[in-house]
Amino acid sequence: MADQSGTSNLLRFFVNGKKVERDDVDPELTLLQFLRTKLRLCGTKLGCGEGGCGACTVMISQYSHEEQKVRHHAINACLVPICAVDGCAVVTVEGIGSTKTRLHAVQERISKCHGSQCGFCTPGIVMSMYTLLRNNPQPSQAEMESAFEGNLCRCTGYRPILEGFKSLTKEFCCSGPGPGGQCCMTMKDKDGVEVSSTLYDVSKFTPYDPSQEPIFPPELMTADWSKERPFLVVKGERVTWYRPTSLKELLALKHGFPRAKIVVGNTEVGVEVKFRNLVYPVLISPSEINELHTIQSSETELTVGAAVTLTEFGHAMEELIKTLPEHKSRVLLAFVDMLRWFAGHQIRNVAAIGGNIMTASPISDLNPLLVAAKSQLTFVSFNGGTRTIPFTTDFFTGYRKVAVGEAEVLQSVTIPFTGPNEYFYGFKQAKRREDDIAIVNAGMRVRLSETENNTTRTVEDCSLAFGGMAAVIVTAKQTEQMLIGKEWTKDLFSEASKTLIDDLPLDSSAPGGKIEYRRSLTISFFFKFLLSVLNCVGTVEPEDLSAFQRTEPGSSKSVQVFQEVPSDQSADDTIGRPLAHVRAEHQATGEAVYIDDMPSLEDQRYIGFVCSSKAHAIIKSVDASSALAMEGVSHFISVKDVPGSNEIGVLVPDETVFADGKVYCIGHVIGVVLATTQKLAREAAAAVRVEYEELEPIITIEQAIKAESFIGDPMSFGKGDCESAFSSSDFVKEGEMRIGGQEHFYLETQASLAVPGEEDEMTLYTSTQNPSLSQTAAATALGVPSNRVVCKVKRMGGGFGGKETRASMLSAAAVVAARVSGHPTRFMLDRDEDMAITGQKHPFLAKFKVGFNKDGKVTALDIKLYSNGGWSLDLSGTVMTKAAGRIDHCYYWPTLAVTGWVCRTHLPSNTAFRGFGATQGNMYTESIITDVAGWCSLPAEEVREKNMYRTGDQTFYLQKLENVTLLRCWKEVIDRANLDKLKSDAAQFNKTNRWKKRGVAVIPTKFAIGFGQAGFMHQAGAFIVVYVDGSVLLTHGGTEMGQGLHTKMIQICSRVLAIPTSKIFLSETSTDTVPNTSPTAASLSTDLNGGAVKNAAEKIRDRLEPFKTKNPDGSWEDWVQAAYQDKVPLSATGFYGSPLEILENGKIAFLYFCYGAACAQVEIDTLTGDSQVLKTEIVMDVGNSLNPAIDIGQIEGAFVQGMGYFTMEESVVSPNGFLFSRGPGTYKIPGFADIPKEFNVALLRSAPNERAVYSSKAIGEPPLFLASSVFYAIKDAISAARSDAGLTGVFRLDSPATVERIRMACVDHVTKQVPPVDPTATPWAIMP
Ligand SMILES: Cc1cc2nc3c(=O)[nH]c(=O)nc-3n(C[C@H](O)[C@H](O)[C@H](O)COP(=O)(O)OP(=O)(O)OC[C@H]3O[C@@H](n4cnc5c(N)ncnc54)[C@H](O)[C@@H]3O)c2cc1C
Ligand code: FES
Ligand code: FES
Repeated sequence: MADQSGTSNLLRFFVNGKKVERDDVDPELTLLQFLRTKLRLCGTKLGCGEGGCGACTVMISQYSHEEQKVRHHAINACLVPICAVDGCAVVTVEGIGSTKTRLHAVQERISKCHGSQCGFCTPGIVMSMYTLLRNNPQPSQAEMESAFEGNLCRCTGYRPILEGFKSLTKEFCCSGPGPGGQCCMTMKDKDGVEVSSTLYDVSKFTPYDPSQEPIFPPELMTADWSKERPFLVVKGERVTWYRPTSLKELLALKHGFPRAKIVVGNTEVGVEVKFRNLVYPVLISPSEINELHTIQSSETELTVGAAVTLTEFGHAMEELIKTLPEHKSRVLLAFVDMLRWFAGHQIRNVAAIGGNIMTASPISDLNPLLVAAKSQLTFVSFNGGTRTIPFTTDFFTGYRKVAVGEAEVLQSVTIPFTGPNEYFYGFKQAKRREDDIAIVNAGMRVRLSETENNTTRTVEDCSLAFGGMAAVIVTAKQTEQMLIGKEWTKDLFSEASKTLIDDLPLDSSAPGGKIEYRRSLTISFFFKFLLSVLNCVGTVEPEDLSAFQRTEPGSSKSVQVFQEVPSDQSADDTIGRPLAHVRAEHQATGEAVYIDDMPSLEDQRYIGFVCSSKAHAIIKSVDASSALAMEGVSHFISVKDVPGSNEIGVLVPDETVFADGKVYCIGHVIGVVLATTQKLAREAAAAVRVEYEELEPIITIEQAIKAESFIGDPMSFGKGDCESAFSSSDFVKEGEMRIGGQEHFYLETQASLAVPGEEDEMTLYTSTQNPSLSQTAAATALGVPSNRVVCKVKRMGGGFGGKETRASMLSAAAVVAARVSGHPTRFMLDRDEDMAITGQKHPFLAKFKVGFNKDGKVTALDIKLYSNGGWSLDLSGTVMTKAAGRIDHCYYWPTLAVTGWVCRTHLPSNTAFRGFGATQGNMYTESIITDVAGWCSLPAEEVREKNMYRTGDQTFYLQKLENVTLLRCWKEVIDRANLDKLKSDAAQFNKTNRWKKRGVAVIPTKFAIGFGQAGFMHQAGAFIVVYVDGSVLLTHGGTEMGQGLHTKMIQICSRVLAIPTSKIFLSETSTDTVPNTSPTAASLSTDLNGGAVKNAAEKIRDRLEPFKTKNPDGSWEDWVQAAYQDKVPLSATGFYGSPLEILENGKIAFLYFCYGAACAQVEIDTLTGDSQVLKTEIVMDVGNSLNPAIDIGQIEGAFVQGMGYFTMEESVVSPNGFLFSRGPGTYKIPGFADIPKEFNVALLRSAPNERAVYSSKAIGEPPLFLASSVFYAIKDAISAARSDAGLTGVFRLDSPATVERIRMACVDHVTKQVPPVDPTATPWAIMP
């Protein structure tokens, strides 16, 4: 209630139907922090804290008195200040359903349709879908697909999520057509094998009944709560939140606190506060100020209140467009179109137009349009009244600075409608199509003269405004001037492109880099604009239509095909059946517990990591006094406090728990501070002052080669004499190629909780793929035997190799901190810390020489590989061994020489990543084979097939290949994709479209399974306990990170014991139940742990056999009871060691090989480099699949992750080793919209593999490389563009094929205008 002064400090809102009233909140808290820490609603996850991943999505509902209806919005709880939810109803994932009561239809569909793997993204995705249904109970498929613009998932490849939610859309009839167009049914393939395309049973879905949704709290509709809300003043220690009730009060406040921030969406302010450690003492919410929320239109213009959200702005324009004459709406259509590419729904639902204008970002998507539209801005202030100014570039006085008085408030922006002869378009190019900030954007307007009989018209007025070309939004002044009076014809282009280059200079070292690309985009945008307008007022050559017409590929579709189990297989036996991930429902309801969800422990401390800000330096001094002076900060712990050995490492102890005298990379951990909250720990860590004496850093591979900075000796493999093979070859060619790194971007960042016990005991809960390494590293750092440390892993929110070793280095710091302080210590890294500290997939450089004959047969390959290992060894040596050792990939090379060097640089140690070096090695091979085809003028498929391994061939490392299913996969994928038609369609398309090109590629893969020469690692243990009630507790040495390992282990246990999976529970992985585990890595965990589980289960089964024989009609429980009564042990350990074959050269052979093939068709926009995968067909040999749903999920997830690697994901590193790309805002992984529009997967039938459990095959890594088919399809499309420009022949394309690389490879009349960068200038970013 308001007090007598009319103000109140009481926040009142509802969470999941329960009223929350608090007068003690800190305005600095976000809704996410409040939900997780105060209400312990931990279903809502923290994935990034910057609005970029959607893991924190919740629904927020408000009652609108004007419309008399409730409005629901999906929002990012990580950015919304807790004070902003006053008067709202918040619904979290826990509020819509639970495994204990009833799942919501959305939760049910995502879990039953296999849309949840690690589960960390799942609650956020559930809430985006739930919000859509609350607003629109039967959405179209297109509406459903667009609902996830603000959500990311790193595991699933998105297809199963979309598939599951299709069942809630209008268009849904069943799970989709099977092969041959039949509807979801079992059928026979050509060879008479029973196949199925049904991964879930639609008939088991609970129908969605919107009338059962919880009602909006009636209390929030009453006048007292939502209309006459009081002047809110919430005071915290450092920040006060004001919510005035009138414009007058707002202006008075701004007058009194000129530096106050006006907060609407907090999407700018929140990010600044978090990442720049800023404190704004006064925050003012204008949510109750009508004047700032009004949208009004007149005959000539639209006026939008500054606090109108982008969603409201978009809706208002869409409604207005329906009523306006066509010409007037042209400007509005450009805004509506631009909003489609502006952030995700969660951001647009809260972010305001005023916030975008006032932030004055040089890459704002709205400001170039507003400037080009000749908009006006209206400001109000306490003393100055109202003033309206034209919105020109003069408004921007510098980087994020505007010409506005401190006390002025933006009231509204007015956008004039376009006139009858006026045309308006907006353009944006980003790294990722959806939910990404612009590289360059533009708003372009032209008014042409009146004309009769459609004759050419001249330019009367014109505005060309650009973002991304300077520190502020700029206009192309000379070009605007030059165009006046000119006839609007295609010929204008050549003159305009010249003046545009002068208008929009860009220094070779300009922030943002991509200099030539950005300059080319400005011209490309103008070219698109010119033709778009020409298309309205005259005629455009048919082939030029492709410059501006968009291909709308429509909604996604997919088919998954797998072999049915034999008809006589018991119903309880789930092996070979698509059993859903056993914890999917817990993940979908938010009940699944990750490290950061574990309850607080008495007296616990949060860890803040103090990391080096220099790439290479001597530490002169460390001063933690300011940090320790902060209330709530108790300790600073560094090298001198380590009780055991500070030197730790993976294979050799070349790393440190805490830096000792020197730092070797930005992100090197110098020490930790302990504090009572996570936020405080981070702030305190930032307050620790470190003085350095800087040393010259080595950042890139090229610099390392020059300085001869390598880790270990080079490794060489090969056979035969290359030089003599070259001399007898028809052709010998040389080349070079670079491949970038890749950030793991597991949705759950690295996290640990260390709990000290009696004497030297330590329990470590940690998100690790390698519990035994974490245990060993902890014991080493503590100086205690391993038997004092227990490491426990329940689940991880993704790993992908990034938690194989790096997790252990960080958890070692946590245990040291726990031992020294005596407190339980915990951390979950913020996304930016995680990306800065933990290393990536290795960037590579290759220099090669290849020999081949006219017919495309390869004769010899001599290749030198260099990887960027970072500062320590970690697994770089083994990664290089795999890159070099698998360089043959799918082909028989008569002669081969490969040498690999690991470069030592001053970057965080690069580490394991799904594919583990094989991906890079295989990429080089496929690039070389593609080029060989180009040099021979032969189709790439012909060259591939000609050189492909067959059964009986011997690899260069002397392993004879048996049961090679490569050619079967290859031929089947070509057949399924209808390759000839795809290629002829693409050729036809390319003939008629000059500025869009299609490309097609088919790529095979062969992936060797095994830990290489580390034969001892081919072992695993399991432990099974049967309790007297018949319930079974299963443990094994592998960890669950979403890949479905535990589900498969339960299936194996269930088959052996012949009991339903529901009787078996798997709680966690723990080093005190199954010791000496091999890491969950190398795709081997199912083979190894599955063997151990089978062994343990067989022991139990054998012990129960006599009781079963004695009582054949009894139940499992009867036999267990009887055995117990008879004193038969009901627990058993299991063990499995893979039989290893020794080759004639004394080396350990790989256990077996996985094969597959993929075909991709893509379309590129040659003017911008934008690309879209139209179709992908995959055939993968997984042996006899243990679980087709999980295996197909791994294939799709790996494929999309690989697509990110080969096309989009790019680490941006400064020349002094600073990683700019530290979060989803700057590092783009594929989103929902990036997956192939048609995404088909078939598992090879009748392909049992004798060498793994139940004839299955490994699956985690092998499919990833298939995504390179997208890269080569892009290269094919670029070739078509180059040939139009008169360029033929082989060309170099480095990986990833980013928009920049694609565009710049499509050399044309635009790129030729762009002057080259100054080679002597220091670039803003470099490729490490
Ligand atoms: C994940 C993410 C994605 C994004 N994607 C895009 C994108 O694609 N394109 C793009 O252009 N931007 C993008 N942004 C930037 C941001 O969302 C927009 O700039 C947004 O419009 C800011 O609005 P807001 O209400 O959240 O601003 P707030 O953070 O609430 O405020 C921003 C600033 O504006 C000032 N301000 C707000 N209203 C007024 C007023 N009436 N008078 C005076 N000053 C005022 C505030 O004092 C503050 O300084 C993105 C941001 C995030 C976090
Ligand atoms: S945690 Fe909020 S968007 Fe990522
Ligand atoms: S299931 Fe989506 S991130 Fe793991």
